Parts: sequence; C-alpha cells; structure tokens
Amino acid sequence: MSPDTVLVTGGAGFIGSHIVDKLINEGHRVRVIDNLSTGRTENLKHLENNPNLEFIKGDLKNEKDTEEAVKGVNTVFHFAANPEVRVSTTNPRTHFEENVVTTFNLLEAMRKLGGVREIVFASSSSVYGEPEEIPVGEEAPVRPVSVYGASKAACENLIHAYSRLYGIKAVILRYANIIGPRLRHGVIYDLLMKLGKNTSELEVLGDGTQVRSYVYIDDAVEATMLAWKNSTGNYEVYNVGNEDWITVNDIVKAILNELGLSNVKIIHKPILHGVGWPGDVKKITLRIDRLKALGFRLGIARSRPLN
Ligand SMILES: NC(=O)c1ccc[n+]([C@@H]2O[C@H](COP(=O)([O-])OP(=O)(O)OC[C@H]3O[C@@H](n4cnc5c(N)ncnc54)[C@H](O)[C@@H]3O)[C@@H](O)[C@H]2O)c1
Repeated sequence: MSPDTVLVTGGAGFIGSHIVDKLINEGHRVRVIDNLSTGRTENLKHLENNPNLEFIKGDLKNEKDTEEAVKGVNTVFHFAANPEVRVSTTNPRTHFEENVVTTFNLLEAMRKLGGVREIVFASSSSVYGEPEEIPVGEEAPVRPVSVYGASKAACENLIHAYSRLYGIKAVILRYANIIGPRLRHGVIYDLLMKLGKNTSELEVLGDGTQVRSYVYIDDAVEATMLAWKNSTGNYEVYNVGNEDWITVNDIVKAILNELGLSNVKIIHKPILHGVGWPGDVKKITLRIDRLKALGFRLGIARSRPLN
C-alpha cells in the first residue's frame, strides 16, 4: 500500500463503512480492520473488487492484528468500538476492553511503528453525561454517566497524551445520534425491530420525553471530512450534531405514521428520572458553532454532487 493509505478501524460498521465510501470516492487508498463483531462485509460488498480497498479481518484487542493494520499508513480513522450504551452498563469490562484497550493498542502500534501523522476519532456526545445547559458546547465539563461515555472520555484523554507526546495530530468528533442506511443499533432501530415482531404493542424504554438530536449519515461524514481537512491545531474537538431535536414519543409517532400503523398499544418503561436504561441521558443537544466555523452546514452533503 502507498504511504497515503488511510486506515479505517471498524470500517465494516455503520459509520465506518460510509467513511470508507467517501475516502474511496475521493481517491484515497483505504485499509479496513474490523473483527465483524457488529460490522458486516455486506456494508463493503460494493467495493469488493476495488483495488484501493484492503480488508483485514482482525481485532484491535490483539496487538499483532493492530500492528499489521497500522503498518504503512499515515492517517487513522478510529471508528471501531462497542457502541451500545446499554451493554456498557450490564457488562462494563467488555466495554473497557472493546473501547479503551483497543484504543490503547492502536495508539501503541502508532507510537512503535511511527509514520502515522494523524488520528480522527469517533467519540460521542455521551462524554458530557447530563449537561447543565443544552445545547452543550465542546468546552463543557466531561462528566459521563455511562461506562460507554466514560470509555470514550478515556480514549479522548489517551489520544490527547499521545498527541502531545508523539506529535500525532488528533481530531476528536463527538457525534450525536447518527442515522441512515446500514444502522443496526439505537432507539430507532430498536423500535423498528420490535414492530417487526409485534405490531399490536410497542415497548418504549423511558417515559418518552427524552430529548434526542439526530444527524443524517451524509452530514456526519461531511462534518468528519471537513474537520479532518480543515482543523489546524494539534488536538481539536468538534461536536457533530443537529440544530433541532426530537422527543422519543415524537420518534414513535413518526415511525408509526410512516409504517401506517394505528392502534398500537404503547407501553413506556421509565426508570430513575424517566430515562430508558441506566446511563441513558434525559436531554442532550449539541452546539455546533465550531463545526460551522469550518464551513459546515446541515444538508451540505445533499447540496453537493456525489462523486
Ligand atoms: N451511531 C451513532 O449514533 C454513534 C454516535 C456516537 C458515537 N459513535 C461511535 O462511532 C463509531 C462507529 O459506530 P457505529 O454506529 O458505526 O457502530 P458499528 O457497531 O456499526 O461499528 C463499529 C465497528 O467496529 C467493529 N469493531 C468492534 N470492536 C472491534 C475490535 N475489537 N476490533 C476490530 N473491529 C471492531 C465492529 O465490527 C463494527 O464494524 C463507534 O466508535 C461509536 O462509538 C456512534
């Protein structure tokens, strides 16, 4: 592979595979490492014969696999993780290993092998926990309330230290809820799966008043590319969110309406202060001024020709 090869960890997953599409479209050579725990080769099937794509079935928990993936690349998009906030509560060790240990292994491989100049990291709005004010800006305190959020905050801090110590440029993206084709987790996916099995009643986790902000995948990819190409500092953090928001109850209404379903009995399952599971955040929306200062506007991807 040529030295301008970009490594995408988790490139067979939802966001990662869309990033791969974009990078390939822009003419980059791309190497993917994915252990296919939640990712699927179908997400990259359309690129099967593309000479610019190399796929490694490997696990970042394994140091050898990680070094093999990092060898010869100069940019890393680190998107591999266990993205399930709920799992992080029931099995925190899994999350620590799948999110923090993997990131440490990756950074260590980058340090040992040299050559990698920059890392773009998929962090999450969950690092803010329950923010005092919404929309929340990047300067707000990092106070996660889930092990998932804590794992992302730990990764950010590890990346910060490696960036300072070893001169690796870092771009941190704190994504809100991203939706679009190939998504297989989260509230909307969960509701659709339940309705696929039973259209007479629907269990909704939480009291339904939880506030969420969603970004379409094309906008999230565009935001990621803008931040990667235009951020000037050695370590920059960007929120990737929308300027509107929706309650879970309104999501339910929209889904039922879209599917033409009526007379569905809605059963709310709130815990604590109305959230759906331990670690769930009642209200979060993100301020995206930093991203906008780079030229981002929502819908930007749809207003540009696809190449
Ligand atoms: N989808 C969202 O709304 C959202 C929001 C905030 C942050 N994120 C973050 O964005 C990234 C991508 O999320 P996604 O929604 O595409 O999830 P996803 O589950 O579709 O993708 C994660 C990918 O990582 C791979 N993977 C997991 N552990 C691995 C390991 N040890 N070694 C190699 N590959 C491994 C999986 O097989 C999968 O392909 C994650 O880091 C997630 O935490 C996602």
